[in-house]
Amino acid sequence: MARPKITRITLATLPTPLEDGGKLPSGANLWVKRDDLTGLGVGGNKARKLEFLCGQAIDNGAKSLVTVGAAQSNHCRMTAAAGARLGLPTHLVVSGEKPNRLEGNQLLAEIFGATLHHTSLAATDWAGLEEFRARLTQQLVERGEKPQSIPIGGSTAVGAIGYALAFDEIIEQCAKQSIIADAIVFTTSSGGTHAGLVAGLVRARAQDPQKHLPKIVGIGVAKGTALNSRSITDLTNKTLTLLGQTERALETDIVIDPNYMGSDYAVATQAASDAAKWAAHRGAWVLDSVYSAKGFSGLLGLDANREFNADANVIFIHTGGLPSLFTSH
Ligand SMILES: Cc1ncc(COP(=O)(O)O)c(C=O)c1O
Repeated sequence: MARPKITRITLATLPTPLEDGGKLPSGANLWVKRDDLTGLGVGGNKARKLEFLCGQAIDNGAKSLVTVGAAQSNHCRMTAAAGARLGLPTHLVVSGEKPNRLEGNQLLAEIFGATLHHTSLAATDWAGLEEFRARLTQQLVERGEKPQSIPIGGSTAVGAIGYALAFDEIIEQCAKQSIIADAIVFTTSSGGTHAGLVAGLVRARAQDPQKHLPKIVGIGVAKGTALNSRSITDLTNKTLTLLGQTERALETDIVIDPNYMGSDYAVATQAASDAAKWAAHRGAWVLDSVYSAKGFSGLLGLDANREFNADANVIFIHTGGLPSLFTSH
């Protein structure tokens, strides 16, 4: 079967730094992969996915971009930035009412020239938001605007390729810095980052079955998104197919820890607030309460439970989220 065409356009500043984070309380070594510094529209994990999602849009002859997310969606803000870079009008479907004054990610999205569609829907009404995106996409098609419509979080197999390559980037950086990585921990929500990393792992294992490769550990932050291992496995395997690999993810490759999200998406937790303080004081890393601080609270929690050996090398992928710090609620 012929491999589908995959087009990448440069949007991110890569490789991102891998910083020495010193010792965790257990004695394990912490490394911080600074994907908050990917550059595009003030940075974050979505830049890696958008390089491939926008490549696909260009291949499809798209004349506009559409996507969807929570009111303070980093993915929406970064899609707006990509639209600005490519000269494509960008429509963002977001939860909540139109505020009197735009803040954080919405303010940046407007600065990048995107059109915001406030739906009045709850941030956790993922299905309702996706329906709104489908309706808007249809209207844009009827108006001849040729939209490329991107699902929540940009978590398609095409988008996930960005994180399969990020896995390679991490392993290469580790080799250069003489680090043998034991675990990669990060925040997972719509699942594309997770599926991409596991696809990278499966591909690396196929290339060298003897090589010591890190365990991939996603810390879940939203009920009702890709919190089950079946959907991540499916997305991983679709990503592997796009990469031309016939190998498949094992059930044990998919680890999603739901114990650090609190009661649901964007609901504050004490552990996340403590983790954000720890990271800010240790390395001046700025974590946001919705995503990266919950992910890092998971890493600290696993460390406290002695999940890592005393001399292990644990990599935290800082996936971004800075703009939501500049919001009043
Ligand atoms: C800052 C940040 N971290 C992590 C994630 C989770 O990434 P994914 O949706 O690929 O699971 C997101 C998604 O919106 C995010 O904005």
